[in-house]
Amino acid sequence: MMKEEQHNHQNQRHHRQKKLEFITVKLVRPVAYIILLLLTYTLGYLSASSSSSTIFSSSPPPPPPSSSSIQQFVNLPNQLDHFRVTTHCADPVPSEVVRQTIVDKVFNSTSPYDSFPPAHVRNLLRKKRVKGWGSKGAVFEHLIRKVKPRTIVEVGTFLGASAIHMAELTRQLGLNTQILCVDDFRGWPGFRDRFKDIGMINGDVLLLHQFMQNVVYYNATESVLPVPFTTGAVLEKLCEWGIFGDLIEVDAGHDFNSAWSDINRAYRILRPGGVLFGHDYFTAADDRGVRRAVTLFARIHGLKITLDGQHWVINSS
Ligand SMILES: C[S@@+](CC[C@H](N)C(=O)[O-])C[C@H]1O[C@@H](n2cnc3c(N)ncnc32)[C@H](O)[C@@H]1O
Repeated sequence: MMKEEQHNHQNQRHHRQKKLEFITVKLVRPVAYIILLLLTYTLGYLSASSSSSTIFSSSPPPPPPSSSSIQQFVNLPNQLDHFRVTTHCADPVPSEVVRQTIVDKVFNSTSPYDSFPPAHVRNLLRKKRVKGWGSKGAVFEHLIRKVKPRTIVEVGTFLGASAIHMAELTRQLGLNTQILCVDDFRGWPGFRDRFKDIGMINGDVLLLHQFMQNVVYYNATESVLPVPFTTGAVLEKLCEWGIFGDLIEVDAGHDFNSAWSDINRAYRILRPGGVLFGHDYFTAADDRGVRRAVTLFARIHGLKITLDGQHWVINSS
């Protein structure tokens, strides 16, 4: 009996030991891990926040910047030069040679109107197809009468509505004016939804040809010349070639970035005393692009903006 009791007792002890082991492995160990993990996070967090707060606290200030990092700031203006326009502008060519300069530089010394229109596009052009936006606003006459420009640069021409209008005005006023029309003559993505009638050959839209046909129709080939490049590509070139405008109309891209860069580039080729102007300073939509760019530009240069209908005008003098 004694032996049996002893055996039972031993069995119970063994069973308790097993149970304790089970609890240790299954429960205590994971809980310990979790506590350890939490402790590590807490310590990490405390050390990180205490080190960042030293910047603002009364603890000793960080060591002074090394001389090389000071040097970085000293050289900042030079570094910014890489982002500035560095084109060297030539002295202005006399207005009598502006046309020939463009014909030489852009058209291999041959007028683009010679033998126009070429046979392969002739049947795809309309006798005239003009469409513009605010292209006959009173501003054109006001400024042409005031400035009496020998050279006009139009930045954004499309089918030539405003360029042809300016050519007519200068003719009526007896001015001998060259109008240079900067446009890539590609339209914009989706523009053919509204202008399906503008021909296309192998994906090449015939905007330049239709513009030239319009100029021919209005008998303005002697005063209107296309400059068929993007504004970004050619405005600085005009500066290098010494081509400056007495009057410059900016009416190409209407988003802020395009308007901003076009206005800045155009200003570089504005003859001292000349006038810069453009469309779309009027609606709330304009304020997201053109108006915002014009306002910022005028503020930076300390220039005054005047309004003429839907157009903005900046006098450089
Ligand atoms: C509003 S239309 C010009 C209208 C013209 N001034 C008128 O009133 O008859 C804008 C023209 O600028 C051109 N354009 C837009 N961004 C250009 C860029 N970066 N370079 C060259 N042409 C651009 C377009 O293809 C379009 O022909």
